[in-house]
Amino acid sequence: MSAPALDRPAAGSPGPAVDPAALQQQFEATIAADHRIEPRDWMPEGYRKTLVRQIAQHAHSEIIGMQPEGDWLLAAPSLRRKAVLLAKVQDEAGHGMYLYSAAETLGADRADLTDKLIERRQKYSSIFNYPTLTYADVGVIGWLVDGAAICNQVPLCRSSYGPYARAMIRICKEESFHQRQGYELLMTMMRGTDEQRAMVQDAVDRWWWPSLMMFGPPDDESPNSAQSMAWGIKRHGNDELRQRFVDMTVPQAKVLGVTLPDPDLTLDEATGRWRFGAIDWSELQRVISGDGPCNAERIARRRAARDDNAWVTEAATAYAAKHA
Ligand code: 3HC
Repeated sequence: MSAPALDRPAAGSPGPAVDPAALQQQFEATIAADHRIEPRDWMPEGYRKTLVRQIAQHAHSEIIGMQPEGDWLLAAPSLRRKAVLLAKVQDEAGHGMYLYSAAETLGADRADLTDKLIERRQKYSSIFNYPTLTYADVGVIGWLVDGAAICNQVPLCRSSYGPYARAMIRICKEESFHQRQGYELLMTMMRGTDEQRAMVQDAVDRWWWPSLMMFGPPDDESPNSAQSMAWGIKRHGNDELRQRFVDMTVPQAKVLGVTLPDPDLTLDEATGRWRFGAIDWSELQRVISGDGPCNAERIARRRAARDDNAWVTEAATAYAAKHA
């Protein structure tokens, strides 16, 4: 349910004076009642900026996230695998579009957001800066990376900002298909030859720790979590979501027949939760700050896509203006 719309004066008319304290109070009451803030509602500037930051980073992640798997479209092992992968990569493009649209409802400009990504003034998920070395990586990205994305993003369907929450509902449904196709691919490989099983284990060894890093720094080193949770943008801290992912994934690894590369992984009988070893946070910092294995390549490709296709945008804009 959205907050009741505040009367806004028509453009150009002075309108009734609006009391800033009343606006703030109404915003807080909407959040406290767990109703949604909609684009027409008044919101504090910090709330708007936090949303633009998070939604833009999320949109960039979806778009950059097309690259590691897109590399395998021409080398898929069968027509069926190619069709599945093509559908998945196209879904990621769609997710990016929903999210850029949600950012636009906050006054952001899509072209400006793209420029900020390319100029490294906005971030995207660390996970997409790792290479995909074999086709098993496609399966592991589906299982682990999309599995992590689901843990992180299902709670965002209840985010306090209406357009973001609604975009997340559809995105999460599609992510669920992505996770399943990855697991099914890995299961097929695990039933294959020794060489295929070794490829799967190698991919799991390389993607496990970066997948845990996707959830962000620990709560006590996360500058944004407390305020984002108070505003209902995020519903849980980074550590809780990371733990949910580990608890969900360990039994799946067992069924699959792979070993997760963490000797400290143990079940805490009292809580039923899996305790895991120390994460190398210096690696996350390195990758976020641009020094991951594929950062330069990812951004160069995104820049080329923007520049090489600028003529399409120009033609479409001219066509729209002509028919306006
Ligand atoms: N990669 C890159 N940057 C990260 C990061 C990661 N894994 N984890 C944290 N950061 C950044 C934050 O964006 C923040 O940057 P900024 O303050 O300079 O803008 C900084 O590190 C500190 O982290 P915080 O925990 O304080 O930041 P947040 O409160 O924003 O939490 C988040 C980080 C959990 C990623 C949160 O922004 C979030 O839930 N975002 C929405 C989901 C999302 O963007 N997922 C990305 C993957 S999308 C995906 O997987 C697509 C699928 O199809 C595969």
